[in-house]
Amino acid sequence: MASHGCLTIVVYCLVVLGVATTALSSPSSLSPDFYDHSCPDALKAIQRVVRAAVSKERRMGASLLRLHFHDCFVNGCDGSILLDDSETIDSEKNAKPNVNSARGFEVIDEIKREVDKVCGRPLVSCADILAVAARDSVVALGGSAWKVRLGRRDSKTASRSAADQDIPAPVFNLSQLIDNFKSHGLNEKDLVALSGGHSIGFAHCTVFRDRIHNDPSTEIDPNFARDLQRGCPTNGGDTNLAPLDPTAACFDQAYFSNLLYKKGLLHSDQQLFTGGSTDDYVKKYSYDTKAFYEDFANSMIKMGNIKPLTGSQGEIRANCRKVNSNY
Ligand code: HEM
Ligand SMILES: *[C@@H]1O[C@H](CO)[C@@H](O)[C@H](O)[C@H]1NC(C)=O
Repeated sequence: MASHGCLTIVVYCLVVLGVATTALSSPSSLSPDFYDHSCPDALKAIQRVVRAAVSKERRMGASLLRLHFHDCFVNGCDGSILLDDSETIDSEKNAKPNVNSARGFEVIDEIKREVDKVCGRPLVSCADILAVAARDSVVALGGSAWKVRLGRRDSKTASRSAADQDIPAPVFNLSQLIDNFKSHGLNEKDLVALSGGHSIGFAHCTVFRDRIHNDPSTEIDPNFARDLQRGCPTNGGDTNLAPLDPTAACFDQAYFSNLLYKKGLLHSDQQLFTGGSTDDYVKKYSYDTKAFYEDFANSMIKMGNIKPLTGSQGEIRANCRKVNSNY
């Protein structure tokens, strides 16, 4: 089949060209067209499941975005957060930032089943599924779009202790937040833009109780604090939820305008606007939605590039909850 051979050469050249362009423009070897030839319908399948899940429950979009963040901040974007506890796996799901909090795992399972069906075999990594689902979630809730770089592979390990160490905590002050992001190769602009992820979703009383009862009035609007205290008293109500911004089902700039009025829900949110070096970014994003969307997209790509496994490293899991050798 001569024509087939020519096609193969053309495809080969395109691939080489693609790799070269990617190598020049980004430090990682990920590329937006990674599955274009091996499974052209993969991304559509992911989007379909995400859209259905988000229209069933808007919060799911927030939960899926958070999963990608918590994956990338623990030994890179390698799908490690999805591994269940087993003899060999000390699951990150049991780490303090995730336990009784990280959610959306069933949706990831459903995406994985659909994508493997569409592709005919396990071809798309769980780590890439998380990255695409995060983008599709933001888009489904009205936010910015970006081209997701692909080609990550899945880890064969997980680390609960690394999850406890490396994911920032809501009690952090500004310098701790800056240092934490720096340790992941992200700067202050990335910190503020990505914190805009709190434009969607909810938090439990346990993580904002100290803020609404003990933060000084110079850091929290007293009426805002009082309103929240009803649903989150000093004792009890641990599992009660509050929205991270007033429009928790819409990806918008309200998270930032809220900070200007000392109405950030988490202590760490308000730290971005308390007279420190990040104030100017908060101010800008509070009125310039376009700048926020652009910077959020760029920082998401940067976060998605954190230490991916590529080439023959790791594996493509058949089940996002288990490493293949455990079958
Ligand atoms: C800057 C440091 C950050 C801290 C300290 C932090 C902390 C938290 C905490 C404590 C919660 C509430 C969890 C719960 O009560 O169940 C939360 C929720 C959330 N976080 Fe963050 N976060 C940070 C950055 C980010 C980033 C970078 C993103 C994404 C780009 C993100 C996305 C979310 C989303 C979407 C939710 C809501 C999840 C849901 O409703 O299921 N966060 N975060
Ligand atoms: C932030 O917290 C760290 C650790 O508790 C502390 O050492 C540091 O002094 C704090 N920085 C500021 C500016 O409050």
